Amino acid sequence: MSIQTKRVAKKVTLTTISKMKGVEPITMVTAYDALFARLFDGEVDMILVGDSLNMSFLGKDDTLSATMEQMIYHTQAVCNGASLPLIVLDMPFGSYTSAELALKNATRAYQETNAQAVKIEGGKERADIVKALTTNSIAVLGHIGLMPQFVRSDGGYRVRGRDREDIEKLIEDAKALEKAGAFAIVVEGVKPEAGKAITEAINIPTIGIGAGVEMDGQVLVWSDMFGFFEPFKPKFVKQYLDGAKLIKENLKKYGDEVKKREFPSDKYTY
Ligand code: KIV
Repeated sequence: MSIQTKRVAKKVTLTTISKMKGVEPITMVTAYDALFARLFDGEVDMILVGDSLNMSFLGKDDTLSATMEQMIYHTQAVCNGASLPLIVLDMPFGSYTSAELALKNATRAYQETNAQAVKIEGGKERADIVKALTTNSIAVLGHIGLMPQFVRSDGGYRVRGRDREDIEKLIEDAKALEKAGAFAIVVEGVKPEAGKAITEAINIPTIGIGAGVEMDGQVLVWSDMFGFFEPFKPKFVKQYLDGAKLIKENLKKYGDEVKKREFPSDKYTY
């Protein structure tokens, strides 16, 4: 494929995503600003404005202190940069502790940004909250398996679906979210057998991250996949570019040229 050819030609809708299950794998990446959203526009089916921005963009240790204001600000920027992918705003920790609060905050997300859906972490215990949103015309992307917003209460990031009992629990969660009206589910950090079993058990698409290849789609955090986030690299991240190396080498080049008064040369001078 030539570099000029866009993969996605028209606006991706919730119907587009539903119809892709079992037909064509769905691609999703995160984005936090208009600059990168513009680069991703037309190349992926979905963009998630993930609360992972609290770590990679803000430099915090986990996602828990992200706020609704932050998520709205970054989603507005992403919507300004990308017009084709389906854009999802990640509801931050504490913004959906009851159906009322979830509805108030998700309504804000719809009114103050052009996001087409919101994402909520949690399984069957969150089904009532998901239903409160979907019955009020707010599309929801579920998120089960390893859930970063549970990192402190769970005492770390734990891979799920290691035995039959846990796989059954995850399937129950996925079915409850499907019944509550979620249009798709992110499945994070599970053994590939679990990812496959969940995908086969429900009629809505599953989007995996560290869940193996037999999912309806895949998602990666952009700063991980392009090698800009250096503090740690989960096993499931394939690094498509060594972004940090590229930046550092070229910044050094710039520094050297400035110190030697080689930049700006005549070409870059009025
Ligand atoms: O916040 C995020 O980027 C996410 C992805 C890891 C799915 O939730």
